[in-house]
Amino acid sequence: MLSGNVAVPRAVLLACTFTVVLAGGVMSGASSAESRIEIKIPEADREHCARRMREYLAMSNEILGATLEGDHQAVADKALRVVPRRYRASAGGQAGGSGGRHERMQANMPQGYQAMMHHLHDGFKRIADLAREEAEPVLIQRQLVRTQNTCVACHATYRFTTAEE
Ligand code: HEC
Repeated sequence: MLSGNVAVPRAVLLACTFTVVLAGGVMSGASSAESRIEIKIPEADREHCARRMREYLAMSNEILGATLEGDHQAVADKALRVVPRRYRASAGGQAGGSGGRHERMQANMPQGYQAMMHHLHDGFKRIADLAREEAEPVLIQRQLVRTQNTCVACHATYRFTTAEE
């Protein structure tokens, strides 16, 4: 009987703790999502961005894999694949003619977003340069970490929603 009296409150206590932890987790998740700045863009642009993002993730992982293999050529190729052509020439060649999306996105995206995107592309260009110079893999990996800090920072700052068309 005595043990029964002890067991019940303990179970209740455990259940309460679990609920509080769960609720805390959900609430902090929700509030951090809401603190991000909303960027309203048309559905097609949102899909385009998501596709690019998945490519960034895939290339980051493949770059890391290639540095572990010591394959400099693959590192350079993969890094350049995610740098838009108009940024590749260091001499700032304004190629233009990307079908209007680029111009529209430039007009829609906040300055901070665009600055982080530039920073990201610079980071991947730097990775390609290091690979071409046959730098130590660990130096390329360090640059990859720096570059991925930009992914993390932007994701903590912005979120997309779909604009009415
Ligand atoms: C300048 C801002 C910015 C940078 C830099 C950035 N992202 Fe994103 N990314 C976003 C936003 C905004 C979303 C949409 C998130 C949301 O709406 O919750 C997103 C979404 C994603 C998604 C989800 C795609 C999908 O299918 O829905 C992936 C994966 C991703 N990013 C990977 C990356 C990786 C990897 C990097 C760096 C190599 C990166 N991103 C850099 C802004 C950025």
